[in-house]
This record gives sequence, C-alpha cells and structure tokens, in this order.
Amino acid sequence: TEFETILVDTRGKVGWITLNRPDALNALNTQVMHEVVVAASAFDADDGIGAIVVTGSERAFAAGADIKEMEDKSGLDMVMSDHFGGWAQFAAVRTPVIAAVSGYALGGGCELAMMCDIILAADTAKFGQPEITLGVIPGMGGSQRLVRAVGAYKAADLILTGRMMDAAEAERSGLVSRVVPAAELLDEAQKLADGIAAKSLPSLFAAKAVLDAALESSLSEGLRLERHVFASLFDTADQKEGMAAFREKRPPGFENR
Ligand code: HXC
Repeated sequence: TEFETILVDTRGKVGWITLNRPDALNALNTQVMHEVVVAASAFDADDGIGAIVVTGSERAFAAGADIKEMEDKSGLDMVMSDHFGGWAQFAAVRTPVIAAVSGYALGGGCELAMMCDIILAADTAKFGQPEITLGVIPGMGGSQRLVRAVGAYKAADLILTGRMMDAAEAERSGLVSRVVPAAELLDEAQKLADGIAAKSLPSLFAAKAVLDAALESSLSEGLRLERHVFASLFDTADQKEGMAAFREKRPPGFENR
C-alpha cells in the first residue's frame, strides 16, 4: 500500500487505522502523523464510512511523540516546521473516531487518544503524560484536553509527576468510557463502531460538532448551537425515516441524506 507506518482497512462501514511501528512502540513521528491524517481524511470524505477506529498493537497504542526525532530540534525548528500541526487536521475529522487502546498510551499517544471521540481501553492499557520526565510538557493538546477529560487536579497529578495510570483509574477518571479484556479489544471496538456507523451520517456529524463545541463554549452559546443544529436535522430525509421507523415499529433504513 501507499502507507509505511500504518495499516489501513475497511470492515463494514468502519475505517480502521492501525499504527504500525512495532520497533518504536508506535512512536508518533512526522511520517506517522502525515499518514494518519491522509488516511483519516480519506475515510472522512467517504460517505460509506460511518466511524473510524484508531488502534495500535497489544503492547502499545503509542508510546508518545518520537523522542529521537525531536531531540535535536530548537524551539525555532519546532515553530517553523509546525511540528505537531498536522494533528489538528486529525482532530477536525467529522466522522466519529474511536481510540482502541491496548498497552502504552503515553505523551503524544495519550494525546492522540484524546483527539478521538471515545476511548475504549483494554485492561492492559496505561495512560500518562510523561513529558515532564524529559524536561518538556505535553505538546499535542495534553494540558488542555486532559483537564477537560479528568479535571484540573487529576490532570495536574499526571502531568506534574509523569506517572502512568492503569485502565481502571482511567475509567474512574472519565478518560476511558469502557474497559474490556485485552483479547476482546478489537472485537469490542468493531461492535461499538458498527453501532455508530449504522446511524445517519448527518446526525453523527451534527452530534460530534455539538459535543466538540461543548468543550469550547459557554453554556448559553452551546445551547444556542445545539438548538440550531437540532432544528437543521429536521430537513434531512433520515429524520423523517428515523421517526417513521419508530412509529411503524421497524428498524430505520438511513441513507445519509
Ligand atoms: C522514540 C521510543 C519511544 C518514543 C519507545 N521508544 N518510546 N522511541 N520515541 N516516545 C523505543 C525505545 O527507544 C526502544 O527502541 C523501543 O521503542 C522499545 O522501547 P523500550 O523502552 O525498550 O521498551 P520498555 O522497556 O518496555 O519500556 C516501554 C516504555 C518506554 C515505558 C513505554 O519505552 C518509555 O518510557 N518510552 C517513552 C515514553 C515517553 O516519554 N513518551 C512521551 C514522549 S514525548 P530501541 O531502539 O532502544 O529498541 C511526547 C511529547 C508530546 O509525546 C508532545 C510534546 C513535546
């Protein structure tokens, strides 16, 4: 295929992106970033895809940004190359994205998981922001998204110490929505994604957009947006179909229109 650091395939209406740098525990270098962005954008543009799963290996979702690639850079290099800039494009994907995390999700790996909409974890998962142990801080959104996910005090505990938290603590903290046995992670991710992908794509795009807005807006702004987006869905054929199917006691046949 055209990709060297990821595997890409389609299972039903679900697009799968598997990080594949086993020798580096899926460390996220520039090539991985570009390939993930290209693959995710292609899935996003495909109306036949209703959900995306991002996963890694059993041992590591991703052990962070690639330390060896960054080590010798200057601050100016980081600014001029916009070193992590591509990830904003990944975060802007409109299709729902599930992170299926087994093993290490550290630094940029944890931050990549947090760019996804739902984090499903194997019981072997370990999350952390260890950048402080390297003399830096999170740089792909960790300081902002982790605070929103787990609250200011748990986020400070993780970011200031660099410690790892296991799957149970991550679930308790609200970072992870479900923990499953490691052997079942991929099947569970597919099931979760199938359930999402069966919905009407316009309503999924709308739901993701208002959920994202909830993290950045005031309550009144967010409620206003929700009201407008909710109303706009009444101009879709799928809203008529969904409600008719309910009345007629049959499953809906959505057509993404
Ligand atoms: C580059 C990495 C890497 C990384 C692991 N490797 N993590 N290479 N960048 N982030 C490489 C190792 O160098 C090693 O290569 C191989 O993967 C296997 O890793 P080991 O350390 O031998 O495995 P193990 O002893 O099992 O330890 C696993 C680990 C450890 C605890 C996850 O690898 C680790 O601490 N990794 C770094 C975690 C980290 O600090 N992440 C944050 C990165 S900074 P060789 O060639 O030696 O076999 C970051 C910043 C985000 O993400 C943006 C702001 C700057």
